[in-house]
Amino acid sequence: MVFFENMGNPKGKLGNIILKTMNKEHTPVSLWGLNHLDISPEDVILDIGCGGGININRMAQSAKKVYGIDYSIESVNLSREVNRDLILQGDVEVLEGNVLDLPFEDNVFDIVTAFETVYFWPDIEKSFDEVKRVLKPGGMFLISCETNGSDFFLIKLFERFMKMTAYDDDQLCQFLANNDYKGIKTYLKEGKSNKKIIKIDGKAKKIEDDYDHFSFSDKFVQWMTITAIK
Ligand SMILES: C[S@@+](CC[C@H](N)C(=O)[O-])C[C@H]1O[C@@H](n2cnc3c(N)ncnc32)[C@H](O)[C@@H]1O
Repeated sequence: MVFFENMGNPKGKLGNIILKTMNKEHTPVSLWGLNHLDISPEDVILDIGCGGGININRMAQSAKKVYGIDYSIESVNLSREVNRDLILQGDVEVLEGNVLDLPFEDNVFDIVTAFETVYFWPDIEKSFDEVKRVLKPGGMFLISCETNGSDFFLIKLFERFMKMTAYDDDQLCQFLANNDYKGIKTYLKEGKSNKKIIKIDGKAKKIEDDYDHFSFSDKFVQWMTITAIK
């Protein structure tokens, strides 16, 4: 199942092809997730599990500086290629490293993002603690996923073959609360009804009409974005 394992840890030529595909295919859910961020020109951002680097590029248009980190050298190389000009200008840096041991000082980032990656993180509570260490007090952690712990058979297959865990929003919010994050907000995009459900501290507060359907997947799985404050 080499193909599937490349989603969680891209390697070699196949990994490079999959990363390029993810840059394209994850665009709808990434843009939806990015909508929940208010990036200011002074912000220093870290994108963990940066994959093919396209979200670094998007955020660098509005931020002071964006760092990307990934434990796959293939991801690091493609992220560097995709952001070559921004790296030369000093606006982007991409490093190889694991979320469990981030190569940064304490309290340095205004925003930390995780697009389509928490499924693969080892010891998720410890990982969230490490994210919190590098966030400035008042800084925001954003998690965006193209599924919300679905029972849909494809997600079950992915869990098995990609060696991933499709957490639901309650689980992720609990891990965040256990790490003493504050102001936890959940946004769920219900593709079938075209609604956005907003939860504050786990409780549904509001249901709004959402944007038009973006892609095939949101017809049968719920998308999830969670924001939390250090
Ligand atoms: C499915 S890809 C998503 C890539 C990109 N964020 C996107 O939305 O297209 C998951 C990425 O997370 C990275 N990753 C998984 N576990 C990691 C960990 N423990 N530390 C750092 N990166 C990790 C993988 O190498 C891969 O590049």
